[in-house]
Amino acid sequence: MHTSQATLITGASNGIGLELAKLQAQQGANLVLVARSKDKLNALKNELEAKHNISVYVVVEDLSDPTSAQRIFDNTQTHGIAINTLINNAGFGGHGKFAERNLNDELNMMQVNMATLTQLTHLYLQPMLKANTGKILNVSSTASFIPGPLQAVYYATKAYVTSFSQALSEELSDTGVTVSVLCPGAVSTGFVKAANLDGNDLWKNAKTPASVAKIAQKGMDQGKLIIFNEKALEFMLNWVTPLLPRRMLLKISRKTMEIS
Ligand SMILES: NC(=O)c1ccc[n+]([C@@H]2O[C@H](COP(=O)([O-])OP(=O)(O)OC[C@H]3O[C@@H](n4cnc5c(N)ncnc54)[C@H](OP(=O)(O)O)[C@@H]3O)[C@@H](O)[C@H]2O)c1
Repeated sequence: MHTSQATLITGASNGIGLELAKLQAQQGANLVLVARSKDKLNALKNELEAKHNISVYVVVEDLSDPTSAQRIFDNTQTHGIAINTLINNAGFGGHGKFAERNLNDELNMMQVNMATLTQLTHLYLQPMLKANTGKILNVSSTASFIPGPLQAVYYATKAYVTSFSQALSEELSDTGVTVSVLCPGAVSTGFVKAANLDGNDLWKNAKTPASVAKIAQKGMDQGKLIIFNEKALEFMLNWVTPLLPRRMLLKISRKTMEIS
């Protein structure tokens, strides 16, 4: 890779991350693609390099490994790739009662959804601040606005991502670095199967990952703070759910996670 600037996308092998990679490539950005699925990433690299005049660098890492973020950073540094756009998209959920779920799965989820995202942000923020320019997009969820019985840890990890991103955005408001947080509703991706949510009603009208990525990229380019892809959900979460009695909200939230 001869070029020096690139967009790094975690979870670029599937779903929203893959669509964001395509859009970034269309804009002419060089890419660093991170995920576990080596073959999928290499196929995407070949496709995007053939279609666009860009360089794509593949990094195969399991982000549930607490040492992965530092390895990714060192890897891009060694290859002389400056990350001017960081898209922390990788993440996963898991359905079931907390007491009955495998604790390791929950801890890995917390590492991928929160800790590795935080580590990558801290690492890549330093050179961005030095250059006084950069964009960070963290992929959260509409789940971040309410507690989620039957996906308790997942909803909590996303609450962290939305809170962290907003606070960081404010801290960086006098710099050239912007932070945006994407809060999608249901999207038809590999997420549903990975979280054992097959058959859940919420995903019956799921949006396409391509449509969500388009809104996300536009919002990030504008430096928008919170990016929603569904207006009705945005209204509900901002203006209706905060007013509901807590016990009622928890019961409604639980119902949406039940599988009939
Ligand atoms: N789909 C939805 O309804 C929805 C709604 C709101 C928010 N989101 C959020 O959107 C983001 C993207 O998810 P998606 O819907 O596009 O799901 P997806 O199709 O399952 O894609 C998830 C991506 O994350 C990567 N990933 C997962 N675990 C990883 C690990 N341990 N190490 C490295 N990479 C890992 C996967 O790659 P490998 O398997 O190749 O490692 C894959 O590329 C997630 O943060 C999710 O929470 C999704």
